[in-house]
Amino acid sequence: MQRVAEEARRAGKSIGCVPTMGALHEGHASLLTKASELSDDVALSIFVNPTQFGPTEDFAKYPRTWESDLETAEKAGVKAVFAPGTDFYPEDHRAIVAVPGWNSLLEGEIRPVHFDGVTTVVTKLFLSVEPDVAVFGQKDAQQALLIRRMIRDLDFGLRLVVAPTVREGDGLAMSSRNRYLSPVDRQRALVLSRALRASVSAWMEGARDARQILSIGAKEFDANPPDAIDYFTLLDPDTLATLDEAILAKPAILVVAARYGATRLIDNAVLGDVWG
Ligand code: PAJ
Repeated sequence: MQRVAEEARRAGKSIGCVPTMGALHEGHASLLTKASELSDDVALSIFVNPTQFGPTEDFAKYPRTWESDLETAEKAGVKAVFAPGTDFYPEDHRAIVAVPGWNSLLEGEIRPVHFDGVTTVVTKLFLSVEPDVAVFGQKDAQQALLIRRMIRDLDFGLRLVVAPTVREGDGLAMSSRNRYLSPVDRQRALVLSRALRASVSAWMEGARDARQILSIGAKEFDANPPDAIDYFTLLDPDTLATLDEAILAKPAILVVAARYGATRLIDNAVLGDVWG
């Protein structure tokens, strides 16, 4: 990958990179489209990264759909698919890249090793590709915020673009994990996007009291409760502080994580221009 990227750079091409774990859907495809608008050559990485899964999580059963992923890549005009093997991590690897403090909040509270795995592997992918621009999805908003901070703090010198969440026709955010849902839970899970929409509408109509904005969304959950709600809260994108009691004076992100049986779903909505 380093050699291919070096050749492209020497030919005067700019490089866009889209890191994924495969099982590509239209959400991933939208990132590839965005990357190709912003750069000459797009490198797509596909690597189900073991270090970001906890011991009881779905690493082994994470969907692997190599053939159709390659078709998606080809349709999107991707120049290089980077799919490292398990030897991407030497057996005795030790070094990590972390964003302390932010790696243990929200998703990180429930998935303690997750974000260190993400920031470490994304660093390795960036060092392999050395992209000019990297495109990530807002779907994983906390991930995008950690990567944004990592790029800034460690002077990666690349542009991060965060693209909007692509949804199914009925509002469910596309996710490789949606396929784990039973048809009944798939239907119940529509309450996530409904709750976000209700809160966002209130915000758009001028509500700025965080408690009021949250309680309008929360009403949707009263009528249609998930098996568990891990969080439904407003975040300051610059500090990751929760804003449950604040009057919103600047952009915020409304984040939700809920469970249906063993399946955890996350979704979010931005209130204002969070990504710049
Ligand atoms: P993965 O879950 O495969 O997601 C790859 C990229 O696709 C992420 O930037 C994610 O936010 C984006 N994405 C997922 N669903 C989306 C949707 N419905 N609309 C728009 N974008 C969407 O995120 C990871 O992989 C990994 O943590 C990774 C960054 C590759 C590191 O291993």
